[in-house]
Parts: sequence; C-alpha cells; structure tokens
Amino acid sequence: MKRTWWKEGIVYQIYPRSFMDSNGDGIGDLRGIETKADYIASLGVDIVWLNPVYSSPNRDNGYDISDYEAIMEEFGTMADLESLIEVLHRRGIRVVMDLVVNHTSDLHPWFRESRSSKDSPKRDWYIWKPAKAGGPPNNWKSCFTGSAWERDSRTGDYYLHLFDPGQPDLNWENPELRRAVYAMMRRWFARGIDGFRMDVVTLFSKDPSYRDLMPGEGMFSGTAPYVYGPRLHEFIREMRREALSGFDVMTVGEAPGSTVENALELVGEDRGELDMLFQFELMGIDHVDGDKWRQRPIDLVEMKRIIERWQLGLAGRAWNSNYLMNHDQPRSVSRFGDDGCFRTESAKALLLLNLSLGGTPYIYQGEELGMANAAFDSISDYRDVDTLNYYKEARAAGVAEDEVMRSISYMSRDNARRPMQWSAGRNAGFGSGLPWIGVNPDYMTVNAEAEEADPSSVLNFVRSMTRFRKEHKVLVYGSFELLAHDDPKLFAFLREGEGERLFVEVNMSGDVAKAAMPSSGMTPLISNLGSSANTAADRLEPWEARISALHRVSSPV
Ligand code: GLC
Ligand code: CA
Repeated sequence: MKRTWWKEGIVYQIYPRSFMDSNGDGIGDLRGIETKADYIASLGVDIVWLNPVYSSPNRDNGYDISDYEAIMEEFGTMADLESLIEVLHRRGIRVVMDLVVNHTSDLHPWFRESRSSKDSPKRDWYIWKPAKAGGPPNNWKSCFTGSAWERDSRTGDYYLHLFDPGQPDLNWENPELRRAVYAMMRRWFARGIDGFRMDVVTLFSKDPSYRDLMPGEGMFSGTAPYVYGPRLHEFIREMRREALSGFDVMTVGEAPGSTVENALELVGEDRGELDMLFQFELMGIDHVDGDKWRQRPIDLVEMKRIIERWQLGLAGRAWNSNYLMNHDQPRSVSRFGDDGCFRTESAKALLLLNLSLGGTPYIYQGEELGMANAAFDSISDYRDVDTLNYYKEARAAGVAEDEVMRSISYMSRDNARRPMQWSAGRNAGFGSGLPWIGVNPDYMTVNAEAEEADPSSVLNFVRSMTRFRKEHKVLVYGSFELLAHDDPKLFAFLREGEGERLFVEVNMSGDVAKAAMPSSGMTPLISNLGSSANTAADRLEPWEARISALHRVSSPV
C-alpha cells in the first residue's frame, strides 16, 4: 500500500469549547489552544483535528453552522485561526478541520432564503416535502429524538432534519449546492488546512423514494434509505475531483451505517473517494438493539472480533482509523477500562492498544490524562441537546428518574465535553471564568500539571507510546493476527512486517491473566507498568499491557 503522512501520523482531537479558555468568559477558544501548542507537540502527535469552529448559534455546539467561512465569535477571529494553524505547522503538526455539509444551521443565509418561499432560488438546496395525511412526509426520526421533519408555517411544507430542527439537511441532489460546497472547501485549503473530517458523510444521499423506515430498521443501519444512499459514491467522487484534487490533504469520513463491505466502497484505495472513515461497530458494542440509552456490559470477545474484522477486512485495500472515544462518546477509561481502582493502568493499557493497531490512531483531548466520566446530579447541569432531549422523552414516557439519570451518566456526550483538566487550580486551570459546563471534581488529582511531574503518569506514558509507534513502523504498516480469540480477559495480537515481529498483549481485566505465549524467545520493549513490572513473566498483572519483540517463531500455547 501507498505510504503517506496521514497513515504514519497520530491524530489529536480538540473540542475547542472545552480545551482552554484564554479570556475568562468560560468558553474555550482558539487563543487558548494556541497557548497549549507546546503541550500538544509534546504528546508526539502529528495532526490536530479541530471540532467545528465556524459561526454557529450552537444548538449542537458548532455542528449547526450559519457561516462556513467565519469563526464563531466566542472562539475568536479568522486571524486567531490563521495564527493557530501557523503555530502548529511550525511545530510540524498538520491541522484538519471539521466539514459539516450534511446540514447547515437554520440561521444559515441559504436556509433563510430557502424557507422564504416555494419559488426561492435556494428552495431546492434543502429537502422540502408536502404534508402527508396532515402529518410529516414519512416516519423518519431525528437522531436527537422526535420526527425528522419540521413543518414550516411560511409554506406549510416540511423540511428534513436528521438531527436538531436547527440543523436542516442540505439537498445534495442539487448541483449548484454541491458546487458551492466544493468552492468553500477549496478556499479552506487555500487558507492552509491539511484536510477535513467529514461529518456524517454517509448520510449525504437520500433515497428518492423517501420510503418509511421499516419496523425494527435502525436509524443508522446500512439499509436505512438515507445511509449509503444511491448517489453517495458519485457525490464523493465528484467532491474528490472538484474540491480535493491538487491538494495534499487527508479526508476522514464519519460514517454511520458502515460495515467492512460497504466501507471498502467508500475508502478502498482503488475507489478514488475518501482516505479513511470512522466506523461505529465498536461504539455500538454496549447498546441494546442499537439504542445507546439502553446499555449492556462490554463483551471483550466481541470487542476483539469487531477490531479483528476491521483490521483484516481493510488490510491491503483500505486504511483504518482507530478511536476509543471522541466528543460524542463516553470517556474511554470509563467505558472500556476501569476508572476506579485501575484508572491509571487501564487508561495506559487502552492507549497502548489503540496505538498498536493498524490504521491511523486518534486520541481525544484528556484521554492522554486518563480523564474519566463524571455524572452530574441534576439534568439542569447537562448541556448537550441530545442528552436533554432524551431526558425529556424518556421521562414523558414514564421511565424512572434514576434510571434515566444512570443511563445519561454513562452515555451522555457531556462526559467528553467537560473542561480539560490542566491543573489543580481554580476551574481545573481551564480559565478564570465559570466554565460553560462543570468540571469533573476529580481534577484535583487528575490533571496535566500533576501528571507532568509524575514519571509514571498516563501523560508520560502516552509520550513513550507515540515515540514507540514512530520507531516501530511495523505498528503502522505490518500485518495483524489476533491470538487467543476466546480469552475473556486478554487482548493479544501479532504485528509483523518492516523486518520485525511484535507481540502485543493487553490484560483487559482487573484480574491476573495468563499470557498467550511462553515468554521465552521474546524481548520486552514497552509496558504500561514501567520498570516495576515483571514483563517477562508468563502472566499479566491486572490491566498490564506490553509489547515484546519475537525472536523466533513461537506458537501460541
Ligand atoms: C456528528 C457529530 C456530532 C453531531 C452530529 C450532527 O455525529 O460528531 O457531534 O451532533 O454529527 O452534526
Ligand atoms: Ca474564551
């Protein structure tokens, strides 16, 4: 496969609202990020992905954009962004921005014009349908609860919004709209950015039948009439031709509804479409019947099976992107690790795992500190539209308060959106003003300043691990072979290539685990337990994770 910077790079995701507040208004901003440029560089990451920083009324924290080429006032100015890009580039870090073009804000001038009358020239830039039997055109649901259709009193027609009513879906069937999007993308490349993370890219093309979802057909299942719709590949190829060609940039699509099979059609190297995508199979692992608000424990055997399927399924044909969390998901240490007794160990173990897989690894802000979920006692302390809507809907349906709050405390997107924990000082060092969302009370012990000073911290381990990945290209380009498939505690695999054979073992449990291979014939290279660990032993301590070099062919025990 072709070698390139975005395959060898490690991505650090920044949620600007919650990263660093430079002016004391309680909201993270671009200057705040710039003051942390050295910190970001010290992590050993190569690419920063910024969540949306564009003008937005913030119904969905910037995913409802009212101007694609202006900066959200609370975040700063275009000059601040240009300065940040320059400061990161000077440190050898590339900058990827969010591209949110499945929908705009309802306050975007395009939509204002579109809704103004049936014969507005922009009417067709959005998806308008007449009422059906006095109600919405079909049974599609919004991702944030309720119908996906909103009736507009001006004309009596309904517009589609797969997310909030403040996020009307654009009509990708319209060629003028597509041209406007491509031109906007090219202007961003001219401003020096290095790529786009494309929001819900698999939803761009809607099946023209606008048929109802069938009973039991999941909202983001691959068969839903707006997931991997009939013209998706045509649109993405056109985008590649019209907006991306000639630029050395990376693209990663957020891709609900993806399976290995349909993913290969979107990111296969021979397809001329996208470079990478975010699949959701792993993120759905603890959902009951696809409902994220109904949760079940994670089954490690299933987790391994999902990861193996993607590692092998894309091998030699397409490139994986690996993430254990982002701004929409619970904190990884609370979900896949143990944020109680083994917080430090398990946070490191998960980072070692994610940084040892084939594909491009993504680290979300605070993951490098082992930041954990934290529940708010009252729903009024939550900010996320998705969480708030779910609360209302579930309570109205009679679900008990404590049950709703339990589900929210685990799954709410606000878990990932609490302020970065920089120090044990006021507001966790996030800024002088009261933060827009409460800090996790554990900041007194879990924070960057304390971890900086502690050689055995999660923070210092990440730095070793990013360096390790750079020094062992087998982790980037090598083959993948899962071992001990059915072991309920151990995640073990081999990576081979680039003249090396590495053996990765992670004990994903709080108990001692038996090693998958005899330790003779291998040299321990890195361990999350540091030098205190007996890394050559045939067993692993709780949450121990290590990588060894294999000298000779040894067979699994
Ligand atoms: C994506 C974003 C999420 C947002 C949604 C609508 O899933 O990651 O934060 O709410 O799209 O834009
Ligand atoms: Ca601010």
